[in-house]
Amino acid sequence: MVKRQLPNPAELLELMQFKKPELNGKKRRLDSALTIHDLRTIAKRRTPKAAFDYTDGAAEGELSLTRARQAFEDIEFHPGILRPAPQVDTTVQILGGSSALPFGIAPTGFTRLMQTEGEIAGASAAGAAGIPFTLSTLGTTSIEEVKRANPHGRNWFQLYVMRDRDISYGLVRRAAEAGFDTLQFTVDTPVAGARLRDKRNGFAIPPQLTLGTIVNAIPRPWWWYDFLTTPKLEFASLSTTGGTVGELLNAAMDPTISYDDLAIIRDLWPGKIVVKGVQNVADSKRLIDSGVDGIILSNHGGRQLDRAPIPFHLLPHVVREVGKDATVMIDTGIMNGADIVAAMALGAKFTLIGRAYLYGLMAGGREGVDRTIAILRDEIVRTMKLLGVSSLAELEPAHVTQLARLVPVAQPAARAARPRPATAAKG
Ligand SMILES: Cc1cc2nc3c(=O)[nH]c(=O)nc-3n(C[C@H](O)[C@H](O)[C@H](O)COP(=O)(O)O)c2cc1C
Repeated sequence: MVKRQLPNPAELLELMQFKKPELNGKKRRLDSALTIHDLRTIAKRRTPKAAFDYTDGAAEGELSLTRARQAFEDIEFHPGILRPAPQVDTTVQILGGSSALPFGIAPTGFTRLMQTEGEIAGASAAGAAGIPFTLSTLGTTSIEEVKRANPHGRNWFQLYVMRDRDISYGLVRRAAEAGFDTLQFTVDTPVAGARLRDKRNGFAIPPQLTLGTIVNAIPRPWWWYDFLTTPKLEFASLSTTGGTVGELLNAAMDPTISYDDLAIIRDLWPGKIVVKGVQNVADSKRLIDSGVDGIILSNHGGRQLDRAPIPFHLLPHVVREVGKDATVMIDTGIMNGADIVAAMALGAKFTLIGRAYLYGLMAGGREGVDRTIAILRDEIVRTMKLLGVSSLAELEPAHVTQLARLVPVAQPAARAARPRPATAAKG
């Protein structure tokens, strides 16, 4: 039998100590986001459909992206017990410098479309957190403005080689003059992937008003206020005649880039050079042997070839082939700090986040990007403590098992390298 008593007024009073409400709406909104998925939900509510879909979407059936995220979820961690890790060190040395966390911000095109602060928010938040920021060739903020936003931190530049080579080489020189320390040479975009959501939304650059966009704008007045009261939304380094993103990419990018271009750019660039968009073991080996400073296993966040290899699955095979000292980095599908810890355990030296950063940006500009970084940092620290490791260097393959759901029938390591002619045919 439970013994009952009269309610005690003092106890009742204690229960009724309400928390002071947060009056700052943006802070309230961002504090309520506990995961990157939560930030995505806020971002979707606040951003016009065409802009949100351009960011959130991928190519064709979006299988590459779904699978990449699935692969990170389908892991099992193996913690060590009775190994106290009260303090963890999340610092890494990468490409000749340090980063306070094992991830940096990936290059994204047309970033001010998502939220007007765009690259300035990304670069300044990265600088404050002590992690690198990458500016895209298709950015909406100039190289020099990014440098001003992140004057003491690490800035990296992503290069697309364009049909008009002089434009690309000019950007490389400007980035070097502005003190950017690393160049990411993206090689997975001979043509644009089929971004079906953009087609269905009739999304074009520059954005155009239709009856649909106006109706969709009504519940999102903040975005439109920003759009109409800040400098024109345009590429910082590219002039365009208008069209869909795919049409623009196809008009500007050169589909015939080869190892010859890599050699030319290597000569022009005084800093570190890494190749982004590597998708098999043979290419990884050839690039590392050719002396690049690093490679990024990536399928462009699923925005190019659909059903492309899952970078996280490729990772251990590549590390085994190129050796654990080579700088192998990875992106695509990272939505949680635990994904980053798993990648580091399987031999990645660094990771990049694309959408996780953009969801934060859309949810709350600069403070939203700060929130993305804080969420990932907490998840990384907590996962490391639960695994019983106090530094990233202590992570090893034994901490992670990849579960079988999406594992290829034939391992990619077995794929024979087929020699290619040095220069592909134009077209
Ligand atoms: C909206 C958007 C624009 C992008 N633009 C570029 C770009 O201009 N150059 C590039 O190399 N990669 C670009 N990417 C790919 C990212 O650099 C990165 O590889 C990808 O976002 C990683 O996957 P995640 O979004 O799942 O993190 C873009 C990605 C997104 C989502």
